[in-house]
Amino acid sequence: MSLISVLKHKNNKALFTTPSHGGKFFVLHKFYQWYKHDISEVEAYNPMKALQDAERKASGLYGVKYTKFLTNGSTSGVISAIIASECKDILIWNNAHPCHKNGAELAGCNIIEYSVEFNEDLGLYKAITPTEVSELIDKYERKDLAIIITSPTYEGFASDVKTISELCHKKGVKLIVDEAHGALYPFSENLPESAVKYADYTVQSLHKTAGGINPTALLHSNDKDPSDALSKINTTSPSYPMLTTIEANINFLNSIRGKKYIDNLISGIKKLNLPLYNDDITKIILKHQTLSGFELSERLYKHGIEDERTNEKSTMLLCGIGTDDKKLQRLKKVLNNFGF
Ligand SMILES: Cc1ncc(COP(=O)(O)O)c(C=O)c1O
Repeated sequence: MSLISVLKHKNNKALFTTPSHGGKFFVLHKFYQWYKHDISEVEAYNPMKALQDAERKASGLYGVKYTKFLTNGSTSGVISAIIASECKDILIWNNAHPCHKNGAELAGCNIIEYSVEFNEDLGLYKAITPTEVSELIDKYERKDLAIIITSPTYEGFASDVKTISELCHKKGVKLIVDEAHGALYPFSENLPESAVKYADYTVQSLHKTAGGINPTALLHSNDKDPSDALSKINTTSPSYPMLTTIEANINFLNSIRGKKYIDNLISGIKKLNLPLYNDDITKIILKHQTLSGFELSERLYKHGIEDERTNEKSTMLLCGIGTDDKKLQRLKKVLNNFGF
């Protein structure tokens, strides 16, 4: 039985259990449907087996050993991956998301910081290359070493994850890939290759680009079962409505409809005819001839367009499941005013 069908199941027992609202008392009526489906591991529902089945099915679909559904974002996936890797030393990008360092600190391992090349023209960091990884693991060669890389970067620069994983595994180094911004990659040949099949651990946020609700995410492992590590930082009362959206989200991405959605998104962005500066077309980088990134951002905002991230040189607009043609058309009109 899937999680989706467990949540559809009508229960006729009087539940003297947590949550005490029992799906019948709504503190905030606007979300009464959420309360109705907010079940826990009681016998009347028994959703744990459905969760295990859903995670096992997902691992098959992604072609990995284990997939875990996360209801506390990629943040929890990264921290758990570092704990699960059992590394003593870990190479961490000095500009990475704070969860990388937090994870290493919680896992009690020694942090070795590294830097990656900066693209001055765009005011953005590039993705780490195999050569850079090779130099790092040669320089810091030691037992129980791990490296965590961010691919794609926030702005859509992707690493050659296949070659990097080969390099790491030749030297016995565990590879963790923060693919928080690449959850669509396993479902499209027009996007960079996903790390899921190559890395020891890969973390993806469904909520960032893949249509998931905040903060749903996935942790994939080709190493050990990360359940133990996850249990060290996770609640023992997970949100089954959220977990169920993850199951439905993966079903959607893997469906003909989902793939068509991604194809349409990519072809819609291509029609904007903008210069492509990165490896992932869904993260639109805009660089204006005369305006700074901040000036452009401000002007776009005045015309009803809010970007995801801006620096002095460029502005990035994030697209994903939910960015429809109408939104892109609106963007096109505004960009035309600015000479793009
Ligand atoms: C590169 C990167 N990794 C990890 C995270 C954390 O992701 P989440 O918000 O899903 O916890 C973020 C969030 O912005 C991110 O940009």
